Formats: sequence, C-alpha cells, structure tokens
Amino acid sequence: SPQAPLDRHGRPMHDLRISVMDRCNFRCPYCMPESTYGEHFTFLRNDERLSFDEIERISRLAASLGVSKLRLTGGEPLLRPKLAELVARLRRIPGITDLAMTTNGVLLARQAQDLRDAGLDRVTVSLDTLDPALFHRMSGGRGALEDVLGGIEAAQAVGFPQGIKLNTVVQRGVNEHSVLDLVERFRGTGIIPRLIEYMDVGNRNDWNREAVVPSAELIAAIHARWPLDALPPKYEGEVATRFRFRDGQGEIGVISSVSQPFCGDCSRARLSSEGALYTCLFAVQGTDLRTALRDGSSDDAVRERLRQVWLRRSDRYSEEREERRQRSRPKIEMHYIGG
Ligand code: GTP
Ligand code: 5AD
Ligand code: SF4
Ligand code: SF4
Repeated sequence: SPQAPLDRHGRPMHDLRISVMDRCNFRCPYCMPESTYGEHFTFLRNDERLSFDEIERISRLAASLGVSKLRLTGGEPLLRPKLAELVARLRRIPGITDLAMTTNGVLLARQAQDLRDAGLDRVTVSLDTLDPALFHRMSGGRGALEDVLGGIEAAQAVGFPQGIKLNTVVQRGVNEHSVLDLVERFRGTGIIPRLIEYMDVGNRNDWNREAVVPSAELIAAIHARWPLDALPPKYEGEVATRFRFRDGQGEIGVISSVSQPFCGDCSRARLSSEGALYTCLFAVQGTDLRTALRDGSSDDAVRERLRQVWLRRSDRYSEEREERRQRSRPKIEMHYIGG
C-alpha cells in the first residue's frame, strides 16, 4: 500500500503481535516468577484491556499499513473469554494472510475446534520439557504436562491448516538435558519443535549469559543423533533458523536471538493488552493508542499515529546487547506484549 511506512533502518511493518491478556495461568520463573506475580499482584482491569472492537480496529489499520501477519499472545491468550470470536473478526480483515496464536496449551483442548472453525491458521504451543517434575518447576507449579500434551493432540486432531509448532526455551542446567527427548517425541508427527535461546526479556528473570545454551550447540547434538540439513529462510527476517531431518522425519527450528541476533530485518510491532504499541521486545516504552481509540479519533488519525511510531523506530536491541550495558535499563515485561 502507498502509505506503508519504513522505519529508520528501512524495515517495513509486516507483523503485529497482539497480547490479548496480561494474565497467565502459569508462573514460569523466566517470565512471571511467583515471587513477583503472587496473589497480590495487580493485573489490568477488564476495562483497561483493549476490547475486541478496539483490537479489530487497530489490526485493520495496521493491515492498511502493510501488516499481513497477526499473532495472538498473552500472558495466556486462551484466558481471554470468547477468543474465537476475536479470531473470526480478525480473519475477515483484508490483507491478513497469516493468523496465528502462541499459547501454553493448557486450555487448548477445549478450544481447539472453535479456534479452527473461527479461522485460526496455526498454533504455537510453549513446551519446555517432557519430564513431568521439571515441567512442574518450569511452569511455576501451576500447569500439568498432560493437559498441555492433550492440547497439542486436540490441535492436531482438528487440523490447523498451517500446522503446529512448539516453543522450547532452553536454559543451561535446567532443561538442556531433556531437549533430545522432546525432539525424538515429535519427530515424524508434523509438529515443528523450535528451540529458543533464553533471553534477557523483562526485568525480573535474573537472566545471565551462562544460562544461555547457544543454538549451535543444540544443533550439533541433534545432528549427531539424527543428521540435519539447513533450510533456507521462508521470508526475510524469519525468527527461526530451520533444519530438516535428512531421513524425512520433519523439521526443527532454532531461535538464536542471543548468539545470532536477527534485528536487521525485524518487521514486528507489538500491541500490549492495554493498547500501547511497542516496536521491540525489549522496548523501554510504548506509545499509547488506547486514548486515541477511546476519544473519538478518526481512522485516519489513529492510522497516522501508528505510522509515525513506525517511521521513528530504530530498535535493534539484540544486536546492541553486546555493545552497551543495557541490562540495567527498565524494560517492558513480556506478559504485557507476548514475546
Ligand atoms: P513464526 O511466525 O512461526 O515464525 O513464529 P514467531 O517465531 O514469530 O513467534 P513465536 O511467538 O513463536 O516466538 C518464538 C520465540 O521467538 C519467542 O521466544 C519470542 O519471544 C521470540 N521472538 C519472536 N519475535 C521476536 C523478535 O522480534 N525479537 C526477539 N528477540 N525475539 C523474538
Ligand atoms: N527467553 C526466551 N523465550 C521466552 N519466552 C518467554 N520468556 C522467554 C525468555 N526469557 C517464550 C515463551 C513463549 C514465547 C512467546 O516466548 O516460552 O513460547
Ligand atoms: Fe505464561 Fe508463557 Fe510467561 Fe510462562 S512464558 S508465564 S506460559 S506467558
Ligand atoms: Fe526486533 Fe527488537 Fe527482537 Fe531486534 S530485539 S529482533 S529489533 S524485537
């Protein structure tokens, strides 16, 4: 479209990641540690979260600026009541060719059919390990592994047109030893596991570099067991680097935002549950769009605000991680913007 903005590094806006719910039913220590997100933590009130009308409107305006991919995230998106209704509305927006969701999977079994019927193209389920005791620890004592596996099975049974992926965050000394089991379990199922380097998102997860397992190390270990061939990127700025099993048993991906940052082509905008737009996963500040949505501003005015934010964008946090000591600056917490 003629008005599609490029940011200061010449990057277009292609993806909008929408957090529909700041709450989560897990307390993964690397994201929402129980010590911070205990009983007394104040989440957003319902009226502080964008309504479906508001999310649909922003998505439509974003689509008119070049966005073709939407991803629903959280917190946990399936905690948002009637999410399938939102999916159906987003599905009808012209220009949206890819509609995805990232979930922890616990509530997926009972919602998979509705989501598929509403037009969701694909789902990504977070799953860090198949070891029940370790899973319990990594989900902060909240989730049950069997529910997540049930969710994955249900998703497979209803058949999402663009398939199912898994997100596995790998931490040194925590779950690195269980990665091969996970890969073995899903080889040949059509489900694509993706191994993610542990990142310094937010301010509360005590990130340290020693806990990062470089993807190259994991790929070497997997390759030694089941030979792999590298695959070319599907699109510019693809988050995952993909490999196929030489024996035809499917594909895996690695997301190496620490060892090999991919800011160069980053085309992702993030909308928080309270309606602020963030131009980086590690952003310090977002731009409030909710006020404009609620004060009677015209579509043109809201679209122009969005466009201006993107034109001013210069983020490349992961590439700058080494250059600056940025860890001391306060960042947005991931559950507001969904990773
Ligand atoms: P596909 O569309 O299937 O390629 O998914 P995706 O990789 O865009 O999204 P997903 O929600 O599955 O994210 C996988 C992992 O990549 C998560 O840990 C995200 O936090 C991380 N991730 C996604 N986008 C970015 C990004 O722009 N920057 C960084 N640093 N990490 C990202
Ligand atoms: N580093 C890497 N990935 C993370 N995720 C959550 N926190 C982190 C982190 N610190 C992942 C979740 C989810 C995805 C959206 O982000 O596991 O799959
Ligand atoms: Fe919830 Fe996902 Fe964060 Fe875990 S990583 S606490 S499942 S939002
Ligand atoms: Fe994009 Fe920021 Fe991630 Fe770099 S660190 S890829 S700019 S979201």
